[in-house]
Amino acid sequence: MTTPPPSADAAPGAAPPTGCELQLMVLDVNGEQHEVITEPRRTLVDVLRHDLRLTGTHVGCEHGICGACTVLLDGRPVRSCLMFAAQAEGAALRTVESLAPDGAPTEGPEEGPEAGAQAPPAPGDRLSDLQQAFRAHHALQCGFCTPGFLMLAEGFLAERPDPDEAEIREVVAANLCRCTGYQPLVAAIAQCAAARRAARENRSAQRKEL
Ligand code: FES
Ligand code: FES
Repeated sequence: MTTPPPSADAAPGAAPPTGCELQLMVLDVNGEQHEVITEPRRTLVDVLRHDLRLTGTHVGCEHGICGACTVLLDGRPVRSCLMFAAQAEGAALRTVESLAPDGAPTEGPEEGPEAGAQAPPAPGDRLSDLQQAFRAHHALQCGFCTPGFLMLAEGFLAERPDPDEAEIREVVAANLCRCTGYQPLVAAIAQCAAARRAARENRSAQRKEL
């Protein structure tokens, strides 16, 4: 898909329409290749939000402090306000929209007869396991920081699938929640880690039985 340069009435943050050097870049976002024609000076978060319309990634400070703009770059959390979009070429990007694109949990039961027998998710269940843990623990208040925390936690759990509480506390300290709701965040991430661990152990036990 090729995204043309934004028009003059494009949203704030979009590139000016004339007099600027434009560049074609190809971004791999949530498993899809996007061709974007824009200025090389544009930040990754602006291109995600304004060119690709992936507005789940938020912009807070634009200085690398708050973490609201956190996305995954080759699986690692990064501040997308601190990168040029061109720097992300060749990498696999994931935004918060990738967490539950079709309502499937990130680590649910393996495919098989049981999975096929499951009822389709109700609209309220169209969240990943991590998002459901956030909801269960009320790990969001205003919610503005939530996409950043989700992607921070998703990247963290991929690297440290069995963290202790001190490690979770350390990682959530990387982002700012002005509502100071850190305790529910810690509880949600711990619950998600425990549920994924139980699912892994269950799968491992099932394989041994075969
Ligand atoms: S908007 Fe990127 S760190 Fe705050
Ligand atoms: S819920 Fe994070 S800033 Fe309000």
